[in-house]
Amino acid sequence: MIKVAPSILSANFVDLKPDIELAQKGGADFLHIDVMDGQFVPNLSFGPGMVEAIRPITSMPLDCHLMIENPERFVTQFCQAGADIVGVHVESTPHIYRALEMIKQHSVKAEVVLNPGTPISLVEDVLPIVDQVLIMTVNPGFGGQKFISQMIPKIQRLNQLRQTGENNFAIEVDGGINDNNVASVYKAGADIAVAGSYVFNSDDPIAQIKKLKTRTSD
Ligand code: DX5
Ligand code: ZN
Repeated sequence: MIKVAPSILSANFVDLKPDIELAQKGGADFLHIDVMDGQFVPNLSFGPGMVEAIRPITSMPLDCHLMIENPERFVTQFCQAGADIVGVHVESTPHIYRALEMIKQHSVKAEVVLNPGTPISLVEDVLPIVDQVLIMTVNPGFGGQKFISQMIPKIQRLNQLRQTGENNFAIEVDGGINDNNVASVYKAGADIAVAGSYVFNSDDPIAQIKKLKTRTSD
């Protein structure tokens, strides 16, 4: 069964707490927090203050996806704010190894993230030190976009690399996930699916999370 990480980017910004509680009640495995700087992606969202505010109101692990230039400038702040996982884009810094090591120094799970156009070969040398790899299945920046199905073979290739190599990372996918495509990403090797609009732009977020899990239970 796939693990589900609802993204608060599609939750109710003026009253986040009820949505976070619904995610937890629905059996969400992580809470996904999308951080955008208006530079790396053409949108702005939350900072470490949001992570700090959410930390005491949920026991779900906080999965922080940093879509920011030179994320090593902010890694420490997100770790200290209470992040359980910090994801950094390989395209966002010339010092990806340093950024990942910084995350690990705080005993926080380190994740490397790839845009749809970025080949897996670009992260091969950091795979031994990461806890997770996030394959973007949309161009980052906005919720509610269409899933890019060409990412399925990419997930398969990464999964093969994991099985043949000395690595032991989880595979997460993010963007356009719904009950029509979740089984295909799971079958390709994904362990965790982020879902924003599918969960929160619905009258029943609990049912939506359960549907994603049911679709992937053999
Ligand atoms: C996009 C974000 C995603 C987004 C997913 O930049 O990284 O996490 O919130 O939203 P949906 O599930 O609506 O594509
Ligand atoms: Zn995300």
